[in-house]
Amino acid sequence: MTDYKEKFEKMRIAGKLAAQTLDMLTDNIKEGVSTDYIDKLGYEFIRDNGGYSAPLFYRGFKKSLCTSLNHVVCHGIPSDRILKEGDAVNVDVTAIINDHYGDTSRMFCIGEPSVKLNNLIEATYESMMRAIKILKPGIKLGDIGYEIQSFVEAKGFSVVRDFCGHGISTKFHEPPNILHYGNKNVGPDLKPGMSFTIEPMINAGKFDVKVLNDGWTAVTKDKSLSAQFEHTVGITEFGYEIFTESVKGYSKPPY
Ligand code: MF3
Ligand code: CO
Ligand code: CO
Repeated sequence: MTDYKEKFEKMRIAGKLAAQTLDMLTDNIKEGVSTDYIDKLGYEFIRDNGGYSAPLFYRGFKKSLCTSLNHVVCHGIPSDRILKEGDAVNVDVTAIINDHYGDTSRMFCIGEPSVKLNNLIEATYESMMRAIKILKPGIKLGDIGYEIQSFVEAKGFSVVRDFCGHGISTKFHEPPNILHYGNKNVGPDLKPGMSFTIEPMINAGKFDVKVLNDGWTAVTKDKSLSAQFEHTVGITEFGYEIFTESVKGYSKPPY
Protein backbone atom coordinates (compact mmCIF):
# COMPACT_ATOMS: atom_id res chain seq x y z
CA MET A 1 0.00 0.00 0.00
CA THR A 2 1.89 3.03 -1.21
CA ASP A 3 -0.85 4.98 -2.96
CA TYR A 4 -1.07 7.52 -0.15
CA LYS A 5 2.65 8.18 -0.17
CA GLU A 6 2.48 11.25 -2.37
CA LYS A 7 -0.44 12.65 -0.43
CA PHE A 8 1.46 12.18 2.83
CA GLU A 9 4.53 13.90 1.41
CA LYS A 10 2.40 16.98 0.76
CA MET A 11 0.68 16.73 4.13
CA ARG A 12 4.11 16.60 5.75
CA ILE A 13 5.12 19.86 4.06
CA ALA A 14 1.86 21.64 4.96
CA GLY A 15 1.94 20.32 8.52
CA LYS A 16 5.53 21.40 8.96
CA LEU A 17 4.78 24.92 7.76
CA ALA A 18 1.89 25.23 10.25
CA ALA A 19 4.07 23.87 13.07
CA GLN A 20 6.95 26.18 12.19
CA THR A 21 4.54 29.10 12.27
CA LEU A 22 3.65 28.27 15.88
CA ASP A 23 7.35 27.74 16.65
CA MET A 24 8.12 31.21 15.26
CA LEU A 25 5.21 32.78 17.16
CA THR A 26 6.27 31.28 20.49
CA ASP A 27 8.77 34.01 21.40
CA ASN A 28 6.33 36.70 20.27
CA ILE A 29 3.38 35.59 22.37
CA LYS A 30 4.03 37.64 25.48
CA GLU A 31 2.66 40.32 27.75
CA GLY A 32 1.91 43.58 25.93
CA VAL A 33 1.35 42.29 22.39
CA SER A 34 -2.06 42.30 20.72
CA THR A 35 -3.65 39.23 19.17
CA ASP A 36 -3.76 41.22 15.90
CA TYR A 37 0.03 41.37 16.00
CA ILE A 38 0.22 37.58 16.36
CA ASP A 39 -2.16 37.32 13.40
CA LYS A 40 0.02 39.61 11.28
CA LEU A 41 3.21 37.69 12.12
CA GLY A 42 1.52 34.39 11.30
CA TYR A 43 0.14 35.67 8.01
CA GLU A 44 3.53 37.02 6.90
CA PHE A 45 5.48 33.92 7.91
CA ILE A 46 3.19 31.57 6.01
CA ARG A 47 3.18 33.85 2.96
CA ASP A 48 6.98 34.25 3.01
CA ASN A 49 7.33 30.47 3.07
CA GLY A 50 5.19 29.91 -0.01
CA GLY A 51 1.88 29.17 1.66
CA TYR A 52 -1.43 30.83 2.44
CA SER A 53 -3.35 31.13 5.73
CA ALA A 54 -6.41 28.95 5.32
CA PRO A 55 -8.68 30.81 7.80
CA LEU A 56 -8.37 34.11 5.87
CA PHE A 57 -11.72 34.63 4.12
CA TYR A 58 -12.78 31.09 5.03
CA ARG A 59 -16.58 31.34 5.39
CA GLY A 60 -16.25 35.06 6.02
CA PHE A 61 -13.50 34.81 8.68
CA LYS A 62 -11.42 37.98 8.36
CA LYS A 63 -8.17 37.00 10.08
CA SER A 64 -5.37 34.53 9.33
CA LEU A 65 -5.44 32.46 12.49
CA CYS A 66 -7.52 32.00 15.64
CA THR A 67 -6.59 33.34 19.07
CA SER A 68 -8.79 31.91 21.82
CA LEU A 69 -8.23 33.43 25.25
CA ASN A 70 -9.13 32.06 28.67
CA HIS A 71 -12.83 31.08 28.54
CA VAL A 72 -12.89 31.19 24.73
CA VAL A 73 -13.19 27.60 23.52
CA CYS A 74 -12.20 28.13 19.87
CA HIS A 75 -12.43 30.45 16.83
CA GLY A 76 -11.41 33.55 18.78
CA ILE A 77 -10.86 36.45 16.37
CA PRO A 78 -7.57 38.37 16.61
CA SER A 79 -8.16 41.98 17.69
CA ASP A 80 -6.52 44.88 19.50
CA ARG A 81 -6.82 42.89 22.75
CA ILE A 82 -3.44 43.07 24.54
CA LEU A 83 -2.11 39.92 26.21
CA LYS A 84 -1.63 40.34 29.93
CA GLU A 85 -0.19 38.43 32.88
CA GLY A 86 -2.36 35.41 33.71
CA ASP A 87 -3.87 35.02 30.24
CA ALA A 88 -3.89 31.66 28.51
CA VAL A 89 -4.30 31.71 24.76
CA ASN A 90 -4.73 29.00 22.16
CA VAL A 91 -3.26 29.94 18.79
CA ASP A 92 -4.62 27.84 15.92
CA VAL A 93 -2.76 27.98 12.62
CA THR A 94 -3.78 26.39 9.33
CA ALA A 95 -1.43 26.64 6.35
CA ILE A 96 -2.20 25.68 2.74
CA ILE A 97 0.70 24.82 0.50
CA ASN A 98 0.60 22.75 -2.70
CA ASP A 99 -3.16 22.49 -2.23
CA HIS A 100 -2.70 20.59 1.04
CA TYR A 101 -3.59 21.74 4.55
CA GLY A 102 -1.76 21.56 7.86
CA ASP A 103 -3.82 22.47 10.94
CA THR A 104 -2.36 22.75 14.44
CA SER A 105 -2.81 24.65 17.69
CA ARG A 106 -1.05 25.02 21.01
CA MET A 107 -1.68 26.75 24.32
CA PHE A 108 0.48 29.66 25.47
CA CYS A 109 0.59 31.12 28.98
CA ILE A 110 1.39 34.74 29.75
CA GLY A 111 3.42 34.68 32.94
CA GLU A 112 3.14 31.82 35.43
CA PRO A 113 -0.09 29.84 35.05
CA SER A 114 -2.18 29.07 38.12
CA VAL A 115 -2.15 25.45 39.31
CA LYS A 116 -5.67 25.02 37.99
CA LEU A 117 -4.83 26.40 34.54
CA ASN A 118 -1.68 24.34 34.38
CA ASN A 119 -3.59 21.16 35.25
CA LEU A 120 -6.15 21.90 32.54
CA ILE A 121 -3.48 22.50 29.91
CA GLU A 122 -1.53 19.37 30.91
CA ALA A 123 -4.66 17.21 30.80
CA THR A 124 -5.70 18.60 27.43
CA TYR A 125 -2.31 17.95 25.86
CA GLU A 126 -2.06 14.51 27.41
CA SER A 127 -5.54 13.56 26.19
CA MET A 128 -4.62 14.49 22.61
CA MET A 129 -1.37 12.53 22.76
CA ARG A 130 -3.05 9.48 24.32
CA ALA A 131 -5.57 9.46 21.49
CA ILE A 132 -2.81 9.82 18.88
CA LYS A 133 -0.77 6.98 20.36
CA ILE A 134 -3.53 4.39 19.83
CA LEU A 135 -3.92 5.24 16.12
CA LYS A 136 -3.47 2.36 13.66
CA PRO A 137 -5.50 0.65 10.95
CA GLY A 138 -8.39 -1.37 12.33
CA ILE A 139 -9.19 0.64 15.43
CA LYS A 140 -12.55 2.43 15.38
CA LEU A 141 -13.21 6.14 15.19
CA GLY A 142 -15.00 5.94 18.56
CA ASP A 143 -11.82 4.70 20.23
CA ILE A 144 -10.31 8.18 19.78
CA GLY A 145 -13.11 9.95 21.61
CA TYR A 146 -13.16 7.32 24.33
CA GLU A 147 -9.47 7.83 25.03
CA ILE A 148 -9.87 11.59 25.41
CA GLN A 149 -13.13 11.61 27.34
CA SER A 150 -12.20 8.91 29.84
CA PHE A 151 -8.88 10.61 30.58
CA VAL A 152 -10.10 14.17 31.13
CA GLU A 153 -13.34 13.30 32.92
CA ALA A 154 -11.38 11.31 35.50
CA LYS A 155 -9.70 14.62 36.33
CA GLY A 156 -13.02 16.45 36.66
CA PHE A 157 -12.81 18.27 33.32
CA SER A 158 -15.31 18.13 30.46
CA VAL A 159 -15.13 17.56 26.70
CA VAL A 160 -16.72 20.14 24.41
CA ARG A 161 -19.35 18.47 22.21
CA ASP A 162 -20.18 21.24 19.73
CA PHE A 163 -16.86 21.20 17.84
CA CYS A 164 -14.82 18.28 16.63
CA GLY A 165 -11.76 17.24 14.68
CA HIS A 166 -12.11 16.66 10.95
CA GLY A 167 -10.72 14.97 7.92
CA ILE A 168 -8.19 17.22 6.19
CA SER A 169 -6.09 16.95 3.03
CA THR A 170 -6.90 19.01 -0.07
CA LYS A 171 -9.84 20.52 1.82
CA PHE A 172 -9.74 22.33 5.17
CA HIS A 173 -12.64 20.36 6.62
CA GLU A 174 -13.78 17.06 5.13
CA PRO A 175 -15.29 13.85 6.47
CA PRO A 176 -15.02 12.14 8.84
CA ASN A 177 -15.87 14.14 11.95
CA ILE A 178 -13.54 13.20 14.78
CA LEU A 179 -15.49 13.36 18.02
CA HIS A 180 -13.51 13.91 21.20
CA TYR A 181 -15.96 11.88 23.28
CA GLY A 182 -17.50 8.49 22.67
CA ASN A 183 -17.35 4.76 23.16
CA LYS A 184 -14.76 2.13 22.43
CA ASN A 185 -15.29 -0.16 19.45
CA VAL A 186 -17.89 2.07 17.83
CA GLY A 187 -17.83 3.68 14.39
CA PRO A 188 -15.93 3.09 11.16
CA ASP A 189 -12.48 1.49 10.98
CA LEU A 190 -9.38 3.63 10.56
CA LYS A 191 -7.61 2.86 7.28
CA PRO A 192 -4.12 3.57 5.93
CA GLY A 193 -4.02 6.83 4.02
CA MET A 194 -6.64 8.63 6.14
CA SER A 195 -5.65 12.06 7.41
CA PHE A 196 -7.50 14.06 10.03
CA THR A 197 -7.11 16.36 13.02
CA ILE A 198 -7.43 15.58 16.69
CA GLU A 199 -8.16 18.82 18.54
CA PRO A 200 -9.82 18.30 21.91
CA MET A 201 -11.38 21.36 23.54
CA ILE A 202 -11.46 20.69 27.29
CA ASN A 203 -13.29 22.85 29.83
CA ALA A 204 -12.52 23.26 33.52
CA GLY A 205 -16.29 23.49 34.15
CA LYS A 206 -19.26 22.25 32.15
CA PHE A 207 -19.02 21.35 28.48
CA ASP A 208 -21.70 23.77 27.26
CA VAL A 209 -20.60 26.48 24.86
CA LYS A 210 -22.23 29.41 23.09
CA VAL A 211 -21.17 31.39 20.04
CA LEU A 212 -21.00 35.17 20.42
CA ASN A 213 -22.76 37.64 18.11
CA ASP A 214 -19.68 37.94 15.91
CA GLY A 215 -20.70 34.53 14.59
CA TRP A 216 -17.37 32.88 15.47
CA THR A 217 -16.13 33.25 19.03
CA ALA A 218 -17.19 30.17 21.02
CA VAL A 219 -17.08 30.58 24.81
CA THR A 220 -17.88 28.37 27.78
CA LYS A 221 -21.41 29.11 29.03
CA ASP A 222 -20.27 28.96 32.65
CA LYS A 223 -17.24 31.22 31.90
CA SER A 224 -14.88 28.45 32.99
CA LEU A 225 -11.43 28.15 31.43
CA SER A 226 -11.01 26.13 28.27
CA ALA A 227 -7.89 24.65 26.67
CA GLN A 228 -7.11 23.05 23.32
CA PHE A 229 -4.28 21.47 21.35
CA GLU A 230 -4.46 20.25 17.77
CA HIS A 231 -2.39 18.00 15.55
CA THR A 232 -2.92 16.87 11.97
CA VAL A 233 -2.16 13.16 11.68
CA GLY A 234 -2.12 10.43 9.05
CA ILE A 235 -2.83 6.71 9.37
CA THR A 236 -0.01 4.56 8.03
CA GLU A 237 0.12 0.83 7.37
CA PHE A 238 1.13 0.00 10.92
CA GLY A 239 0.42 3.15 12.92
CA TYR A 240 0.37 6.88 12.49
CA GLU A 241 2.38 9.93 11.57
CA ILE A 242 2.04 13.39 13.14
CA PHE A 243 2.38 15.99 10.38
CA THR A 244 2.40 19.03 12.68
CA GLU A 245 5.08 18.15 15.21
CA SER A 246 7.08 21.17 16.41
CA VAL A 247 10.47 21.40 14.74
CA LYS A 248 11.86 23.05 17.89
CA GLY A 249 10.39 20.58 20.38
CA TYR A 250 7.74 23.08 21.54
CA SER A 251 5.01 20.60 22.39
CA LYS A 252 3.35 22.23 25.41
CA PRO A 253 4.08 25.05 27.87
CA PRO A 254 6.48 26.06 29.24
CA TYR A 255 8.37 26.61 25.98
N1 MF3 B 1 -8.39 25.88 12.60
C1 MF3 B 1 -9.75 25.61 12.99
C2 MF3 B 1 -9.88 24.12 13.06
O1 MF3 B 1 -9.12 23.54 13.77
C3 MF3 B 1 -10.75 26.19 12.08
C4 MF3 B 1 -10.75 27.66 12.07
S1 MF3 B 1 -11.88 28.20 10.94
C5 MF3 B 1 -11.76 29.85 11.06
O2 MF3 B 1 -10.63 23.48 12.39
F1 MF3 B 1 -12.36 30.34 10.07
F2 MF3 B 1 -12.24 30.22 12.22
F3 MF3 B 1 -10.50 30.18 11.06
CO1 CO C 1 -8.88 21.69 12.79
CO1 CO D 1 -7.18 24.36 13.75
